[in-house]
Amino acid sequence: MNILIENKKVSEVKADIKIVLVLDKNLDHKWIEDKIELEFLGFKGESEESCLIGKTLYVGCESTNNDEIRLSSAKAINVIKKTKAKTIKIGTYANECPGVNIKAMSEAFILGSYAYEEYKSKKNTLNIETITICLEDYNDVEISETTANKSVKTGTTVATSTNFAKDLVNEIPYEMNSLKLEEIAKGLKSIKDVTCNSYGKKFLKEQGMGAFLAVNRASHIPPRLLHVVYKPENAKEKFIYVGKGLTYDTGGLSLKPGNHMVTMKSDMSGSAAVLGILKGAAELELPYEVHAIVGATENAIGPEAYKPDDVLTAKNGKTIEIRNTDAEGRLVLADCLCYACEQKPDYLIDMATLTGACVVALGNYTTGVMGHSSELKDTLMQNAEKSGELTGTLPFNRYLKKLLKSSIADLSNISSSSYGGAITAGLFLDNFVADDCKDKWLHLDIAGPAYVEKDWG
Ligand code: BES
Ligand code: ZN
Ligand code: ZN
Repeated sequence: MNILIENKKVSEVKADIKIVLVLDKNLDHKWIEDKIELEFLGFKGESEESCLIGKTLYVGCESTNNDEIRLSSAKAINVIKKTKAKTIKIGTYANECPGVNIKAMSEAFILGSYAYEEYKSKKNTLNIETITICLEDYNDVEISETTANKSVKTGTTVATSTNFAKDLVNEIPYEMNSLKLEEIAKGLKSIKDVTCNSYGKKFLKEQGMGAFLAVNRASHIPPRLLHVVYKPENAKEKFIYVGKGLTYDTGGLSLKPGNHMVTMKSDMSGSAAVLGILKGAAELELPYEVHAIVGATENAIGPEAYKPDDVLTAKNGKTIEIRNTDAEGRLVLADCLCYACEQKPDYLIDMATLTGACVVALGNYTTGVMGHSSELKDTLMQNAEKSGELTGTLPFNRYLKKLLKSSIADLSNISSSSYGGAITAGLFLDNFVADDCKDKWLHLDIAGPAYVEKDWG
């Protein structure tokens, strides 16, 4: 599917279907040629409402905010992909910053046309070949061709990287194991300025990563610590992303009940996200050094499995009493965070499907943001909003921290209370973030948004 910019009026371009976004429920705008029919059909122009009249698809859109443009453009693609249309045209809907909504539209077209059909014997082929964005604006804003083309490039790269991450998460657990993740990480080396190192058991032992190794013990597939780096010449700040790469989470000996286990192939979503971020950053040739560090293994059961009551020693020497083997992600991340801090990041961000408690707190669509620096949390959350991502902050406090105390080791891998589980998991991780990294670190619990079985937005 190609997205093209044409410096022409919408009427001057030929296409099978034209998309018209109806802003502010205003059916009197000059672009709406079917007002009477739309009213007859009860179309009000509400958000995500759509109506196809002849070869024009009208979609309601609340405002020119980029999130609304992305949502309504995705809705349009969802309708059109069920038709035989090969070519589509649309005008622009600029706000104060002219390129932003072209980027949002491009993202929507690519994200909205995503489908995972690897295991369907009959696949739906996507008929859409070309989408032309004409530089004629709903509010007569002038947009330069250069800005428009740059926005398409950014939007398509971001969305293609997102779809790359989705493919990794959707793959079945029989295929998606630590060795497969290694293969994918190494594949990123084909992008300019990207290198990849992969480490196995020997390295983990040398590094004293006793927590990570214990989680891997029952698996017949070896663990992998993957370290992918994008380092362009004269790079500015160093961003280090750490991803939870649990390719399957059975819960271990503290076995999950069947209905909680299903979907746990998605427990490597953090690793998919960090690899996707690195891929996007490198393809856009951003002027930053970006690292993706992945702790890849599965949490299985078997004679070698680590047990509740075991005591493990992490890379920084801290000892951990195991009281529940299902709280395994934090163990893998503990060692990976120690390793990441040694790389001297300017920003350290971990992404993990860490707790069901985060989903209870914030619901399915929202990422839980935790960390010590309010400034960093605010910056991330403001940028998330601009990107169409939902976030909510979960505040640390000294009282919850005490719930991780253990009588036998330095700390316990679970809290002694059943409340505040997302925060206590974040506070557990804090034990493995070096002092000079505390204010550079953010923990993103993505258990909610990582995997939703129904389409949304
Ligand atoms: N991978 C799960 C968390 C999870 C739950 C992700 C639901 C996505 C959806 C994690 O390893 C886990 O099992 N956490 C436990 C922690 C508990 C034992 C303290 C949980 O949330 O129940
Ligand atoms: Zn678990
Ligand atoms: Zn898990």
